[in-house]
Amino acid sequence: MKETNPGADAIGQNLIKLISNVCFSVFVFSVLIFTVIAITYQPPDPWLESAPALTKLFTQTENATFKIDDSVAKTGEDMQTEATPAVPPIADIKPITEEVIEKKEEEVSNMTLKSSGCEDLELVNCSDPRVLITVEKFNFRLFKSIVFLDYQTPVNGSKQDECDVSWRFRNKKEKSWRKYRDFRRFKFGTGENCSYKIVHAGGWHSGINARRMRIRTNSTRSGRKNPKVAPLVRDDEINDTIPSLGSETNFRKGKYLYYSRGGDYCKGMNHYMWSFLCGLGEAMYLNRTFVMDLSICLSGQYNPSGKDKEGNDFRFYFDFEHLKEAASIVEEGEFLRDWKRWDRAHKKKVPVKKVVTHKMTPMQLRKDKSTIIWRQFDGQEPENYWYRVCEGQAAKYIHRPWHAVWKSKRLMNIVTDISGRMDWDFDAVHVVRGEKAQNKELWPHLNADTSPDALVAKLQGMIKPWRNLYIATNEPFYNYFDKLRSHFKVHLLDDYKELWGNTSDWYNETMLLNNGRPVEFDGYMRVAVDTEVLYRGKTRVETFYNLTSDCKDGINTC
Ligand SMILES: *[C@@H]1O[C@H](CO)[C@@H](O)[C@H](O)[C@H]1NC(C)=O
Ligand SMILES: *[C@@H]1O[C@H](CO)[C@@H](O)[C@H](O)[C@H]1NC(C)=O
Ligand SMILES: *[C@@H]1O[C@H](CO)[C@@H](O)[C@H](O)[C@H]1NC(C)=O
Ligand SMILES: *[C@@H]1O[C@H](CO)[C@@H](O)[C@H](O)[C@H]1NC(C)=O
Ligand SMILES: *[C@@H]1O[C@H](CO)[C@@H](O)[C@H](O)[C@H]1NC(C)=O
Ligand SMILES: *[C@@H]1O[C@H](CO)[C@@H](O)[C@H](O)[C@H]1NC(C)=O
Ligand SMILES: *[C@@H]1O[C@H](CO)[C@@H](O)[C@H](O)[C@H]1NC(C)=O
Ligand SMILES: *[C@@H]1O[C@H](CO)[C@@H](O)[C@H](O)[C@H]1NC(C)=O
Ligand SMILES: *[C@@H]1O[C@H](CO)[C@@H](O)[C@H](O)[C@H]1NC(C)=O
Ligand SMILES: *[C@@H]1O[C@H](CO)[C@@H](O)[C@H](O)[C@H]1NC(C)=O
Ligand SMILES: *[C@@H]1O[C@H](CO)[C@@H](O)[C@H](O)[C@H]1NC(C)=O
Repeated sequence: MKETNPGADAIGQNLIKLISNVCFSVFVFSVLIFTVIAITYQPPDPWLESAPALTKLFTQTENATFKIDDSVAKTGEDMQTEATPAVPPIADIKPITEEVIEKKEEEVSNMTLKSSGCEDLELVNCSDPRVLITVEKFNFRLFKSIVFLDYQTPVNGSKQDECDVSWRFRNKKEKSWRKYRDFRRFKFGTGENCSYKIVHAGGWHSGINARRMRIRTNSTRSGRKNPKVAPLVRDDEINDTIPSLGSETNFRKGKYLYYSRGGDYCKGMNHYMWSFLCGLGEAMYLNRTFVMDLSICLSGQYNPSGKDKEGNDFRFYFDFEHLKEAASIVEEGEFLRDWKRWDRAHKKKVPVKKVVTHKMTPMQLRKDKSTIIWRQFDGQEPENYWYRVCEGQAAKYIHRPWHAVWKSKRLMNIVTDISGRMDWDFDAVHVVRGEKAQNKELWPHLNADTSPDALVAKLQGMIKPWRNLYIATNEPFYNYFDKLRSHFKVHLLDDYKELWGNTSDWYNETMLLNNGRPVEFDGYMRVAVDTEVLYRGKTRVETFYNLTSDCKDGINTC
């Protein structure tokens, strides 16, 4: 088509060029339409909410810069819909309801009436069932959005009249059925009618004596020890150790899909998820175990320094425990070791099918019996992106398993803490600024509509005075929102710095995953926590739709 006749005049050449351009456009357009149709069969997808976003996504394949909103970080737990509800585990613990507490109270008061009177209340005895009942009633009344699951017997606090109490709970706002643990310190006084009353209640994870100790001396990756790491306490609600395949025969019995690192490495997190879920989706389609590299390179866009950061553990960001349950995966290091070991020990090598191009579709690989299907992504960008495997026809067959990726529970503990400090009673506003506010071409009004004065004017109409107001934002300047402080109780992520500071649980626990080196609370973690706190707000104000008439994806996209 591109061939030109050297004899033709300039007009002829231009005509040919024009025709070929038109042909190409029609081709691109039909491919796009086809992809759009194919993709509509997919389960809910965070980025494909609107057709314009979709068009943008696919027209930018060549560029590989995902223009998707990166001021929120949506994962599987944020997109449960009626079609794919989160299913409660079969053997789920019954929640502690008001009736349960009342029944317990009656039993206990019958018991105590028979025995002693009220005089023994002077000395607070933490093992006394009345102590626990008092706490249960207190919590039930205070934390309406929490489902309490089970309590441990209280233990002594630091003083005579204090007890530390530990319990497990679920958040009604969270659509995953994950359970969390809290332990708080309570100070008691004597109430009426032979009862205790709570004089003071400590904050999230304040009742350290009630924390169940699980000391680990081992480093994170099984088999690799780090003697320098001091014994640390870890959250016993999190079990995200790396599973090992066990014996060699187990290895040989498995079937694997192995993606080697491609051009996706060090791209943004949205790109990472889009690609990772494509690979995982293909593995599910082929009924194979996905070989997974737990080491993530965090793109410079999330780092203040602007530099890419390699060697971040997947578990800093995502819930590996849930992933293990939701999908069949094996960690790359374990996998390669077992593979080598097998090849060394046996004459016959493990059958491997190497696939060098994404043009080889998952459907073509269906019948392949090799133990390992190894997709190599050695080409040039954008040919070497993982997600290319899921393009075109394949999109009809491969469904990205969004449900398998939830946020790290360690980050969610921070979310719970922040929400809890506002007593789960707060409104939230999402203020998108950053690059978009600078870009007058695509977002002409955004900067003005999110200026401090505009925010004060608009939010007053939407949020009652002096409510707790959490502001999720990518505006780096802390004092930017000061004007709102004369109308609302303003909360920003940076108000909670100590939750990831060097005295925090988060700090200790991520250090464990990182061979004893401290982990930086990076930009993506900030977005993840901001997003989840935002979703827990009672009234939620969004930048696009509520604060500005500009479109989320730039001018003329809505
Ligand atoms: C890709 O997008 C970036 C950022 O918008 C832009 O600077 C660059 O020119 C684009 N590249 C191509 C090949 O379009
Ligand atoms: C407590 O005592 C009352 C009256 O003595 C009795 O009716 C009630 O069933 C008892 N409750 C329990 C839970 O034992
Ligand atoms: C505290 O209460 C428990 C349970 O009622 C009882 O067994 C224990 O003896 C009490 N301890 C003290 C010091 O009173
Ligand atoms: C708790 O404190 C009480 C007195 O305040 C004491 O009698 C009891 O032995 C303590 N229990 C434990 C397990 O230390
Ligand atoms: C104490 O008991 C009396 C009489 O039984 C009752 O009227 C009162 O409400 C009770 N107080 C509390 C705080 O339960
Ligand atoms: C540490 O891990 C190794 C292998 O994973 C295991 O054999 C060993 O028992 C562990 N040690 C402790 C103290 O848990
Ligand atoms: C953690 O999970 C693994 C399975 O992934 C299981 O084998 C192991 O027993 C669990 N450990 C604890 C302490 O629950
Ligand atoms: C995967 O397993 C399911 C159910 O066992 C089966 O229906 C499907 O055909 C299998 N797919 C492949 C590619 O083997
Ligand atoms: C924690 O950080 C502070 C301030 O950065 C520093 O002064 C302190 O020594 C650090 N503590 C530990 C245990 O690292
Ligand atoms: C973190 O670990 C250090 C050293 O092991 C310990 O002293 C500190 O109490 C731990 N902090 C928390 C919040 O668990
Ligand atoms: C924000 O806009 C949406 C869509 O127009 C609307 O449903 C919602 O009520 C608005 N929120 C507030 C707090 O006004």
